[in-house]
Amino acid sequence: MPIYVGSIDQGTTSSRFLIFDQMGRLVISHQLEFDQIYPHPGWIEHDPMQLLNSVNTCIAEALRKFGLMGYEAQDIKAIGITNQRETTLCWDRTTGKPLHNAIVWSDVRTHETVRKLSKLSDKGVNAVKDLCGLPITTYFSAVKMRWMVDNSEIVATAVQEGRAMFGTVDSWLIYNLTGGVHGGIHVTDVTNASRTMFMNIKTLKWDEDCLKFFNLPSDILPNIVSSAELYGNVSNGPLEGVPITGCLGDQQAALVGQKCFTKGEAKNTYGTGAFLLFNTGEEAVISSHGLLTTVGYQFGPTGKPTYALEGSIAVAGSAVKWIRDNLGLINETDEIGPLASSVEDTGGVYFVTAFSGLFAPYWRDDARGCIVGLTQYTNKRHIARATLEASCFQTRAILDAMNADSGEDLKLLKVDGGMSNSDTCMQIQADVLGIRVERPGMRETTALGAAIAAGFAAGVWKTFEDLKDINTRDISVFEPVLGDEKRALRYKEWKKAVERSFGWVD
Ligand code: G3P
Repeated sequence: MPIYVGSIDQGTTSSRFLIFDQMGRLVISHQLEFDQIYPHPGWIEHDPMQLLNSVNTCIAEALRKFGLMGYEAQDIKAIGITNQRETTLCWDRTTGKPLHNAIVWSDVRTHETVRKLSKLSDKGVNAVKDLCGLPITTYFSAVKMRWMVDNSEIVATAVQEGRAMFGTVDSWLIYNLTGGVHGGIHVTDVTNASRTMFMNIKTLKWDEDCLKFFNLPSDILPNIVSSAELYGNVSNGPLEGVPITGCLGDQQAALVGQKCFTKGEAKNTYGTGAFLLFNTGEEAVISSHGLLTTVGYQFGPTGKPTYALEGSIAVAGSAVKWIRDNLGLINETDEIGPLASSVEDTGGVYFVTAFSGLFAPYWRDDARGCIVGLTQYTNKRHIARATLEASCFQTRAILDAMNADSGEDLKLLKVDGGMSNSDTCMQIQADVLGIRVERPGMRETTALGAAIAAGFAAGVWKTFEDLKDINTRDISVFEPVLGDEKRALRYKEWKKAVERSFGWVD
């Protein structure tokens, strides 16, 4: 009898439910966008109920289509969850209702909180980096939770009264899918926990010193579980009774979906932002070059964790949407590739897309976006190309940092995510990096990763060897064609442009 595995992919701009077969082939999916709430410049929120409802609608719709194909929900052996990371929620344990909108990972309202926290230690932003692997920035959940407690009386009172439940999106979904206020479980997987700044990166437990540093109590936190084990069963709806057995932050899920299981392998996912993860095996390498130490995955509660070094880029696909929605240079996002390829280069234009400051390896929250090198000759085609190049150059900065941290040069980068669909963009990427770039035929690697984790725990696959034939067809390869001299010159000019983006916020 054929076996299927479901995957909930709750991302920054849309939710999806996808169903894979045992060969890792995508059978059916459904996707829904939801509102981005911008209360002030730099603030981004999601309505937690809308996130949940969008997930439930995607499940119902995908199953309806699955049914039309002649299958039923019982054919789904297990489901996995993957999610936008760091986005912070807080809800009431007595009602199960949200106490605040979710503060999204790219929201920069915590600028002042970061400044205050950094003054608490001689190590500045690196105050707890040796413990949790992360610097203090606006990006991570602990800082957002601190902000909520300091600025929302409702949240502060609930924390004081022991009613507050904190969680990233995975926790919120698992809690609700397993019953919510009627017995829903409060857990988070190690990969998501490794993005909060509360978890000790070595022990994989909540760290007392980190909690003390952020002055938050441990009773608000979920239990940390592995990325592949039985968490609970779906309590109602079309998937009622189906076990939830996989959970990974979306970037770690893509690492798994790209089958980067060997130390030294790396992938870059170009979604709303872009995130390059490099498998460092069983060692949690603390970066000296501006990268993050994160858990890649842990299969089973007794499984050894695999770690990764991560370079995060806050703005990638969202810059393409920006030139569509805010500048009107294109009507559809996939027009950017053809427009960019209609010119040979940007004519000396560089676009630093620092809309929320610059993340890795720069970590400058005072940076803001800038376009430099404009002349009378510049037209929208150059701007389009410079928009794609921005993600590619930031990836190059991350790759250099990774090579320096690991002491070995990466030879091959696996890619996925929306922008990777553009051949032009991926050719630029290979040229900017000077190494081979490989793109799989089936690009839903994030969802596939969560399905793989769920399938492992449910016995669908038992070893990595069982996955060897999954998603091996129609791989596109991009080899660098740009000469070394030109590559070096353009990267030097990019660095000059980056300097111009600094210092726009006090
Ligand atoms: O860390 C943020 C990341 O998880 C968001 O991913 O795919 O929604 O850009 P994405």
